[in-house]
Amino acid sequence: MSRDAGHFNLTARVLHWLMAVLILTMLFVGVTMVASLHWRPMLVDLHRPLGIAILLLALVRLFNRLRHRPPPLPADLPAWQAAAAHASHWVLYGLMLAMPLVGWAMLSAGGYPIQMWKGVLLPPILPHDVALYAALRSAHSLLAYVLFATVVLHLSAALFHLWVRRDGVFQAMAKGPGDR
Ligand code: HEM
Repeated sequence: MSRDAGHFNLTARVLHWLMAVLILTMLFVGVTMVASLHWRPMLVDLHRPLGIAILLLALVRLFNRLRHRPPPLPADLPAWQAAAAHASHWVLYGLMLAMPLVGWAMLSAGGYPIQMWKGVLLPPILPHDVALYAALRSAHSLLAYVLFATVVLHLSAALFHLWVRRDGVFQAMAKGPGDR
């Protein structure tokens, strides 16, 4: 494991901000496509490949995270806040992997084609089973709420570090060692 003192490495920073945009987009695309018949076909076609892209990027990110130790949290951070930070980060990793896998599994169990774009289909990862489809469909919605709540908490904590504590935690993800 290598350490890039005080900052996340470039791969971690690029993936963090790229995935922040993708995940927020996916949450809003997901909610809009189940609410609007007009936008549904176009948004569902966007939702599937974007979700699979998130799965692939999350795997790269997890690999990078396990190889490069992140900068330590400030020593004077209350223990409960440090514990909450670590827990929420691993929940986010879990959800970045679970959301797309559940989406893929749910369409498989429903017997739907898992189309990425015209002519490119992913194989089903579960057998056709209507009861399983229903359970996974509910799980996909429930996990989306948990993901949204965790993202809101994460963003609130980041802004608390940036504006209230001013302890460099936000900058560790925003800037590289040589940046001003
Ligand atoms: C990070 C990845 C993902 C996020 C954040 C996400 C988020 C969402 C959200 C918020 C909804 C609306 C849920 C509701 O209101 O009930 C939804 C629905 C849906 N998602 Fe995903 N999703 C992701 C990945 C995927 C993937 C990879 C697939 C399939 C390959 C997929 C397939 C679907 C389908 C088909 C629906 C709508 C089902 C229906 O209308 O009955 N999702 N998703």
